[in-house]
Amino acid sequence: MLVHIVADRQEKIARLRSLLESTYRTSSALLSEQASIPAECGAIVIAADLRLADNIAALKQAAEKLSGIRRRIFIIDQKVRLAAAQAYALGASHVFFNSVDQRSLLLALADSVGTAQPAAQTDGVSLGAASGGAVSLAAMFSAVLSGRQIDVADATRAASRIAEAVAEDGFSHWLETVRRHHEGTYQHCLLVTGTAVAFGLSLGLGKSDMARLYQAAIFHDIGKAKIPLTVLDKPGRLDDRERALIETHAAAGYEVLKETGGITPEILDAVRHHHEYLDGSGYPDALCGPSISDLVRILTISDIFAALVEDRRYKPSMPRPQAYELLCGMRGKLERPLVAAFREVALTS
Ligand SMILES: [Fe+2]
Ligand SMILES: [Fe+2]
Repeated sequence: MLVHIVADRQEKIARLRSLLESTYRTSSALLSEQASIPAECGAIVIAADLRLADNIAALKQAAEKLSGIRRRIFIIDQKVRLAAAQAYALGASHVFFNSVDQRSLLLALADSVGTAQPAAQTDGVSLGAASGGAVSLAAMFSAVLSGRQIDVADATRAASRIAEAVAEDGFSHWLETVRRHHEGTYQHCLLVTGTAVAFGLSLGLGKSDMARLYQAAIFHDIGKAKIPLTVLDKPGRLDDRERALIETHAAAGYEVLKETGGITPEILDAVRHHHEYLDGSGYPDALCGPSISDLVRILTISDIFAALVEDRRYKPSMPRPQAYELLCGMRGKLERPLVAAFREVALTS
């Protein structure tokens, strides 16, 4: 098997080559070179500092190609669970720290993806069980764009990892990390999922409700894959035609997921209706109060808050207190007791 090594620094490539060359044929490239991945490679080992936006951007670009390789081993610089969650979001099937030893690396390469993996452990710090085939959110969006099937199980696993990271390290930490590392719809998707998880935890939701919530959150804007970036990322005000186009994303996401299969009617409903308001002024179906499920009400609040506090090229992030004030001002549209309950997440969590 050919193992392809990609790293952000030449020394990392040299070290990985020395660990692998006795067992596998290797090829390598620097991440910054954006070199193509050899078609015959059976595994890829990526060593990169995920604190750097350029590295994230380069890996996002490679996401689609990565998804075709069974073993995608990421070696990260930071010994924190959040960095591991980032790696999984970018498509890792296994994650290790910089100081990974040869035996662990060879075991991961020999392992067939999809079977249970031992906890990736280095220096006594556990990343948790690294189940195979973790999703790349970027790949999920590009699948929709190119008409390929979304891997629902992979996306759900990625969402559950976000839930673990938020539960362990806190919402504020997640917010800061994602804001630094991602942009656009991809960042939004991670932020909404983290926000919804923090909200669900503070509401004391049970395990199955939490799972429904984070699955709805990870998929909620999948329909934006169908909207041109020139419209999605347009600085300043949208004209009526552009606004109408953007508003098609909720129904478009519903249609894509309905075709995908494996998504419960409840999640489909949440994706379609996450822009509905209790007073009937939302879209696409202008639903009113009783027709809007609790799941949707929680998701909508998380979605609006995340959109306000996220950092876009054309829009500075709004401070959390100001964003919460704006939510409080949306009288009649959002459920008041839920907005009140969200206060803790918005301001102190
Ligand atoms: Fe949306
Ligand atoms: Fe959204």
